[in-house]
Amino acid sequence: MSGKATVVAPSNIALIKYWGVRDPERAIPWNPSLSMTLRRCTTRTTVAGREAGAADEVLLRTAAGLEPATPPFAARVVAHLDRLREWAAVGTPFRVATENSFPMGSGLASSASGFAALALAFAAALEREVSLRQASLLAWSSGSGSAARSVAGGFVQWPATGDEDNAAAQLLPESHWDLRDVIAVVDASAKEVPSREGHRLASTSPYFERRLAALVERLRRVRIALEQRDFAALAPLVEEEAVDLHLIAMSSRPPIFYWRPATLGVLERVRHLRRAGIEVCATMDAGANVHLICTPAAEPFVAQELRRLPQVQEVIRDRVGPGPERVNDHLF
Ligand code: DP6
Repeated sequence: MSGKATVVAPSNIALIKYWGVRDPERAIPWNPSLSMTLRRCTTRTTVAGREAGAADEVLLRTAAGLEPATPPFAARVVAHLDRLREWAAVGTPFRVATENSFPMGSGLASSASGFAALALAFAAALEREVSLRQASLLAWSSGSGSAARSVAGGFVQWPATGDEDNAAAQLLPESHWDLRDVIAVVDASAKEVPSREGHRLASTSPYFERRLAALVERLRRVRIALEQRDFAALAPLVEEEAVDLHLIAMSSRPPIFYWRPATLGVLERVRHLRRAGIEVCATMDAGANVHLICTPAAEPFVAQELRRLPQVQEVIRDRVGPGPERVNDHLF
């Protein structure tokens, strides 16, 4: 048996994207990615051991209270519990409850925060100390590469080095640069094509090799822009990278389209804002929603402008955050 532990882990928004796997079984990426850890978009997960012989139980906290998770969701959690049990060499069944602060499957990375929270809460319930490197590897073993980055705060690169290790590392702490992420939710439904499928198909795009070649320099320049807090240098790189991901998706065989007309409407507004001198740029993950990265001075205006767009259903104001935290506020 184990104790009970709860961890709140953040989502993250990639400035350099993970898109494409050289080994689909182990989710080994073709390229290093770099993200900003968020503060408000989080997953809270409580893990506790159950008596021997019981089944794993997976619960979701919604507005209605704690409910059994849907079978596909529960199956993904139990599959990851199996990997975590193997790592910890335990056979204990577990009860897991989880709650998201943002809509699931909406292109906001719920699996990143979800698997990071699960891995960290599991280790904490067993009183296992894990280094950031180990935590990253445990989160990544879920098959969600972006989860490997959600174990640290600030600005995080995964894999941190080109060697076989494949763990993430923090490049810069949250205190380095107070960047904001104003998220325009234009479509809160689950995406039609999971990232897993996009990763598998990425290398079928005739532009994929060109992307990999360009990424070396783009990553280097993004890192310098972050180090120097140079928004004017960062903005075009972030947008170029987001469009590049979608260019690869749209030219994969078969093609994948994540954008909606509303996505383009938001992108057009961002261009207007920038022409008016506002420090803002846009990025999109594998979904239709748009993340507007901006400075603190620009944030209130950016949020207000987004609220005026009829195609924007919800505006989430987030910012760079400190990374996961163990808390005593359990879900059961
Ligand atoms: C487009 O395989 O980590 O968000 O598990 O569905 O969150 P999920 O996806 P994952 O791929 C993430 C792809 C991306 C870009 C990124 O976050 O780097």
